[in-house]
Formats: sequence, structure tokens, C-alpha cells
Amino acid sequence: MSRAAMALKSGSLVAFPTETVYGLGADATNPEAIARIYEAKGRPADHPLIVHIADMQDIVEWSSDIPDYAIALARNFWPGPMTLILKRSELAEDFITGGQETVGLRVPNHVIALALLNEFKKIGGKGIAAPSANRFGHVSPTTADAVEAELSAYLAPKDLILDGGPSLVGVESTIIDCTTESPKILRPGAITESMIEEVTKLDLSYDTTDIRVSGSLDNHYSPVAQVLLDIEPQPGDGYIALSHFETPEGVKRLASPKNDDEFARQLYAALRSADTQNLVRVVVKQPEGSGITIAIRDRLQRASNGR
Ligand code: TXA
Ligand code: MG
Repeated sequence: MSRAAMALKSGSLVAFPTETVYGLGADATNPEAIARIYEAKGRPADHPLIVHIADMQDIVEWSSDIPDYAIALARNFWPGPMTLILKRSELAEDFITGGQETVGLRVPNHVIALALLNEFKKIGGKGIAAPSANRFGHVSPTTADAVEAELSAYLAPKDLILDGGPSLVGVESTIIDCTTESPKILRPGAITESMIEEVTKLDLSYDTTDIRVSGSLDNHYSPVAQVLLDIEPQPGDGYIALSHFETPEGVKRLASPKNDDEFARQLYAALRSADTQNLVRVVVKQPEGSGITIAIRDRLQRASNGR
């Protein structure tokens, strides 16, 4: 951990596990290090990055004008799969926010991520900027092996990948815009509408926003294989569905999750395995209902729009 924190401090990149997906981390106050994230990801420079912090107290360093409901959310769901969009402080420079007046903040719930954040803080680090550790538009990695397959060609010898096993949630954090009177979900995740409304005692806002969220692009989270939703799989197709759906003759089953949480946890690895097996098509039977399935269907819709 101390070696990894030192690497960050000296401007290297450190990919690390979180409960949602793996992130590609850099010192959030170092413009050269941040430029390397954009290079490694092949991501347009005007897309803002989430700053990961060790502790809820650290939000005051990075943001100002924090509404009471954002404090309530932080208290209840951090460390956890939730990113708050707040008005930025001077510490959050244009190279983090994509030139916007807001900053995204998250305390991840993973022992390795938290240990790294705390070590980094001990040596003067303010926060770790980390997008998902994938090439732009591709499926987010949920294992260290997936990070390596995705990014090793773009990393330098001093960069590190920390292995913390498979991510337990499996889809990216819920992003909540906290810059208006009531909270607004910009990207659905494991922290759901009803959880947010219960904690804030507010109704969610559904106003349109001009805030840019790259994860909200229509084509994102895509494997090379074509993703088709809710059709009958044909021989040679990959197939992802809850375990009670049978696998038709000649179809390659990629995942058989027993429930919705397992579906989220296994989805990205299953989409990746379609590519390692060189499948042309992967059919997904979408889980129905509310809760985490809203985030699952959100990502699948975008994956099915291709790259
Ligand atoms: O679960 C997650 O959130 C993972 C892990 C590593 O923490 N991170 C992640 O980062 O998904 P990324 O960069 O792949 O997606 C973050 C999204 C992007 O779509 C970005 O545009 C949006 O968050 N975002 C970051 N800062 C923002 C801001 N100030 N305003 C609006 N959107 C913001
Ligand atoms: Mg991403």
C-alpha cells in the first residue's frame, strides 16, 4: 500500500479495485498524471473524473455549498457505490472537472481502495481521480486480469495494478447531481431511487440537465461482440440470463446468475468472455423489476447500441 501511495505521489498511475468496478487512479491534483489517465483510456479531455476520497470529512476540501441532503446521502451510503456531484472548490481544477463548475466525489467501499486512499492521505495526498479502468466506450473491468488485458499496452513500467479479486457490486456507482434543490440521478447504480428518497425525504428531480456524463453516452459499455436484448439466442450465440432460463441447443452460456445482484456482479465479465471466445453475437435476457436491475438495463441498452 505504501509503495502504491508513493507511486501516485510521484505521478504514476495505480489501477485499484473498488466494490463497483476497477478504477485507474492518479493524484487528483497532478495535471500531468491526470493527462496520462486520458491517454491510457483514449478518453476525450472534456469528460470529468470522479475524485475518490478516504473519508466523508474530505468533501469540504473538494466542494462548497454542500446541501443538507447531500450530507444525509454521504452519511448513509458512504463508503459505498454512490458518487455525489457538488459545486467545486478551488482544489478541483479544470483538468478534473472537464472545465465544469462541479466535481464528482466518492468514498468507495473496498478494503484495498480505502487502505490506498488512507496511505495516500498520510503522505499529503488530497484524493485519487479514477475513471473505470477500461478503454473509452468499452466494458468496465471487474477483475485485475480484465484491467491488465484492457490497459497493459498503455501503462508505463512504474504504473501498478492492485488485485483485490472480483468487484462485489459489478456495475458503476450511482451518480447523483446535488447542485439543485432536490437530488437527481445522472447514472443509475446500486443506490436506488427509493433509497435516496427515503434518506433525503425529498422527491427526486427529473429535470433535464446540461451536465455532461460520459457514461450517459448512447453507445458505451460495449464489447466487440454485438449485444442483442431479449431475443431467442441462435446456435453459436453467447447467452446471459438468470439461471432459471435454459440454454437452447448449440448456444454458449456465458453466465447463469441466480439473482439480480449476482447478475450485476457477473455481467461485465460475461460480456468480456464473449470477446475472448470471439463470439459474433451475445444475447442477454434482461432481468425485470426495480432495484439494481434498473442499472443493469441502463448499461445493457447502451451496450446494445454498439461502438
Ligand atoms: O463506480 C464508479 O463510479 C467507478 C469507480 C472506479 O469508482 N468510476 C467510474 O468512473 O465509473 P467513470 O469515469 O468511468 O465514470 C464516471 C462518470 C463519467 O460519466 C463522468 O462524466 C461523470 O461520472 N462525472 C464525473 N464528474 C462529473 C461532474 N463533475 N459532473 C457530471 N458528471 C461527472
Ligand atoms: Mg467508465
